[in-house]
Amino acid sequence: MNPLTIAIDGPAGAGKSTIAKTVANKLNLLYLDTGAMYRTCGLLCQRAGLSSGDVEQIIALVDTANIDVRFEHGDQHVYLDEEDVSEAIRKPEISVWASDVSAIPEVRLKMVAMQRAIAARQPLVMDGRDIGTYVLPDAELKIFLTARPEVRARRRFAELEAKAPGSTCYDDVLRDINYRDQQDSGRLFAPLKQAADAVLLDSSDLSIAETVEQVLALAKGLQV
Ligand code: DC
Repeated sequence: MNPLTIAIDGPAGAGKSTIAKTVANKLNLLYLDTGAMYRTCGLLCQRAGLSSGDVEQIIALVDTANIDVRFEHGDQHVYLDEEDVSEAIRKPEISVWASDVSAIPEVRLKMVAMQRAIAARQPLVMDGRDIGTYVLPDAELKIFLTARPEVRARRRFAELEAKAPGSTCYDDVLRDINYRDQQDSGRLFAPLKQAADAVLLDSSDLSIAETVEQVLALAKGLQV
């Protein structure tokens, strides 16, 4: 079977990374989580003490930043000036920062160039918001993975609780999800949008295994 490039887009908490990682494993493909790259930009700005309105400073900081994506034993790690920040970028405040900085076209252009360079080296599964519409418009399979906001907030809350019990509450998670939905879909440059040729998959009432099965069936359909 020929390896495919698969683009999985969708809103925060739809399960993209879990599904993309599992599908990539099963198909023996590399998995690139592009959200981690915008999160690294957000972490950089937060650490610099900027606020989201400091657009000129954010552009200058990201422009000169040394951000790198490396695959170690098949797992993606993001580096900021040689520091592995893969864990630090998972904090809820960094989710909001990532959404804020990702609305800036100059930031996106730098990340998209890195994403396309990685995709040019091998077929892969890439997830994000604009992969099927902008980063890899020629991807063989495009999935738009979504779920109801309350379901996405519940899943994200359970994930955060498992990592750090009592660190956040469901209402805050739902508020962040709604904020990011609005901002990620509403920005002018490469917004979150279903590509015309993407398959819509609503995972609200599906298990992870069922969602993976559907993506694998779609991939198989393209390979025969
Ligand atoms: O997928 P995630 O939750 O890790 O993404 C964090 C933020 O990064 C998300 O709210 C919007 C932004 N993002 C983006 O604009 N484009 C992408 N391809 C991936 C993420």
